[in-house]
Amino acid sequence: MKVDVLEYLREREYISGEVLARKLCISRVAVWKQIKKLKDMGYAIITDPNLGYCLVSRPDLLIPPEVQRELSTTYIGKKIFYFPELESTMVTAKEKVLHRWTEVINEGTIIIAERQAAGKGRLGRKWFSPAGGIWLSIILFPQLPPSYIPRITLMTAVAVVKAIKISTQIKSQIKWPNDILIQGEKVCGILTEMSAELDIINWVIVGVGINVNIDHQEFPEDIREKTTSLKEVLGREVPRVRLVQVFLREFEKYYEKLKREEFPSILEEWKLYSCTLGREIRINIGERIISGEAVDISEEGALVLKKVDGELIKIISGTII
Ligand code: BTN
Repeated sequence: MKVDVLEYLREREYISGEVLARKLCISRVAVWKQIKKLKDMGYAIITDPNLGYCLVSRPDLLIPPEVQRELSTTYIGKKIFYFPELESTMVTAKEKVLHRWTEVINEGTIIIAERQAAGKGRLGRKWFSPAGGIWLSIILFPQLPPSYIPRITLMTAVAVVKAIKISTQIKSQIKWPNDILIQGEKVCGILTEMSAELDIINWVIVGVGINVNIDHQEFPEDIREKTTSLKEVLGREVPRVRLVQVFLREFEKYYEKLKREEFPSILEEWKLYSCTLGREIRINIGERIISGEAVDISEEGALVLKKVDGELIKIISGTII
């Protein structure tokens, strides 16, 4: 059932059941049922027998009517599939993409879950995803060659850093390629999956997980020491709906820049937020570990490493250890 009455409810303003019923062309019983559903969802609504209904507060749930209410994007998040619980938003996003002849899936469609039972991290790792975080996947159909994938990941990291700064004032940093850290502790991870031909991307799914309102002791012991949440850093809860809106806006802005071939300017910002460049690192590239100084990020988004012998090498994918 769609809760259309939400469109007419205003905070600190009464509207009668009769008016609502007339506006929506439904019975007063149907209005009452929608009000009950909203209350069950977490909306605080006063019911006054003489004055009608008055909205007192909205829940901080990432449901489409809340996220889309003040969303200023053109196409990112215009369609949202919301789930209180999912195995993984990546899995559901992939199912949607692969079956897109059965329902229309446009560029910018997003999948959001309040919690994930089997959240996916990079390199087959698990991603801890309890209630209180932001777990979402964005579906994209970029008309770009597969070599742009690292750039999409890097621009997503910049959008996350910007969104965190705008909505909480917290300064975060990017650990190449796509970990967002606050004072050295991980607050967000980005996972990019794609399907491509030799010269063109078919689809990309960008998964973003932000630890927002999660208490430190909730994190599993093996990651607790190097993980943090925005709530932990700020000492208070962060409104998630606002953060998602700002992130989607920033994401669309940078994605548009990328499509206009303006990646160099995004890269400049990425470098400003980087905590990797200029440091001696050891990097696991799958078959071996390489040491050296992280000196730059190339125009294609690869990490440029200066090995001990002075040789410069470009690394497209790896994990800093
Ligand atoms: C990492 O290992 O750093 C990447 C973590 C990515 C987690 C997000 S949460 C939303 C989306 N759904 C998933 O199952 N994973 C990504």
